[in-house]
Amino acid sequence: MRQRNLPVQTTYWLMMIWLLAAMVLVAKPGQGAAAGTAENVCIQCHGKLPGKYGEPVRLWQGSIHAENGIACNSCHGGDPRDAANAMSPARGFLGAPREKDIPAFCGRCHVGVLKDYLTSQHGKALGKGGPTCVTCHGNHRVSKASLELINEKNCSRCHGFKQAETIKVAMGATENRILAIDARIAGVKQKGVDTDRLEKGLFAVRNRFHSLFHTVDTARVATESVLLQSELQKLDDLLMGIDEVQRNRKLIGAFAVAGALLAALLAYLLRKTFDQPET
Ligand code: HEC
Ligand code: HEC
Ligand code: HEC
Ligand code: HEC
Ligand code: HEC
Repeated sequence: MRQRNLPVQTTYWLMMIWLLAAMVLVAKPGQGAAAGTAENVCIQCHGKLPGKYGEPVRLWQGSIHAENGIACNSCHGGDPRDAANAMSPARGFLGAPREKDIPAFCGRCHVGVLKDYLTSQHGKALGKGGPTCVTCHGNHRVSKASLELINEKNCSRCHGFKQAETIKVAMGATENRILAIDARIAGVKQKGVDTDRLEKGLFAVRNRFHSLFHTVDTARVATESVLLQSELQKLDDLLMGIDEVQRNRKLIGAFAVAGALLAALLAYLLRKTFDQPET
């Protein structure tokens, strides 16, 4: 009987799982980016325009901003629901920023980055040949940032690459260590260890680390890297402690199994002794 019921039950559960998955898949685009895009008049109208007025839509699609629901109006202002008044200053439309206004334009949301940039050599050279945010990140096709952005092609247009490379090497070492510790935390978490403290620690280091670049201050990157490395060492030590406990647990487990086997053997031998038929 049981043997025959099993396939029926399995089919039932498979159907339930399939239904749930379908519900999730159907629900998601309805409330997410797709619906927002369809109703956004900036994207509808500009998407049909040729040349430099249509290009932003094509570049923006697939950007990290599009992925995170930051649309045309999030940056340029205006009313994305009213085609007739979309670009009216009365609806908060800002237009396209002039070059020297770009850092403040992006910095409304990236406050920490703006602060570091403005005090840097780059910020001080704003409007006098220094790079703005879009020189390095682009304006509409902005991708997830990484140290890959620091390369000879991007960074030797205005000056030598040597100092840029020093920063990249120092930051690369810290980044590799952050990635390694991240992987180890994921590993012990899988074994059921509470990693809350470790994760918070790494998160803090990571935030400090990523704001570091925009200072383009080789001395500050060097001193800050030493501090960050010592924070990472503390996390490393904590992880070593956890590994040690795990090893000991395994050892105790092995002893317990060996002990149980020994006890079973003894019990068996004893029973054998007492079960001997009397002679
Ligand atoms: C009905 C079509 C239409 C809609 C809707 C529309 N635009 Fe435009 N937009 C245009 C045209 C045409 C131009 C170029 C001529 C001009 O500047 O008026 C333009 C120009 C622009 C510019 C460049 C301005 C400059 O100073 O060079 C920006 C930025 C812009 N639009 C953003 C937006 C945003 C953001 C929205 C939604 C809130 C929006 N547009 C809605 C048609 C539209
Ligand atoms: C992350 C912020 C951001 C988003 C999102 C954004 N823009 Fe822009 N846009 C800019 C910046 C900055 C400039 C000025 C670019 C420059 O000078 O390099 C600009 C310039 C423009 C221009 C003027 C182009 C020219 O060559 O004169 C138009 C038109 C425009 N954007 C339309 C749009 C439309 C349409 C969208 C939505 C698909 C959009 N933008 C989304 C930041 C943004
Ligand atoms: C000289 C080139 C350059 C300029 C100018 C620049 N950036 Fe960056 N930005 C980078 C690089 C390189 C990284 C990657 C750093 C890293 O991986 O830690 C980065 C990282 C970022 C990040 C991700 C930081 C994080 O916490 O993960 C943001 C956001 C950002 N930049 C925004 C901006 C804004 C806004 C401006 C203008 C105020 C700007 N950038 C100016 C090169 C630049
Ligand atoms: C309306 C708010 C807003 C504005 C204005 C804005 N951004 Fe962003 N940006 C975001 C959000 C939200 C994200 C995605 C979450 C994150 O990574 O911080 C993001 C992500 C980024 C990233 C990737 C960060 C990473 O983790 O690697 C870069 C680089 C970036 N933005 C650069 C810019 C630049 C350059 C401008 C100006 C042209 C700009 N942003 C304007 C909100 C904004
Ligand atoms: C559009 C021109 C331009 C680009 C592109 C540019 N820089 Fe700069 N950079 C400057 C200017 C201007 C200065 C200040 C004067 C000088 O040192 O030449 C500067 C200075 C520096 C300094 C020295 C800071 C100090 O304290 O002396 C470093 C480091 C630096 N940039 C790194 C970078 C990196 C890394 C990149 C590429 C991601 C980059 N730069 C791309 C214009 C640029």
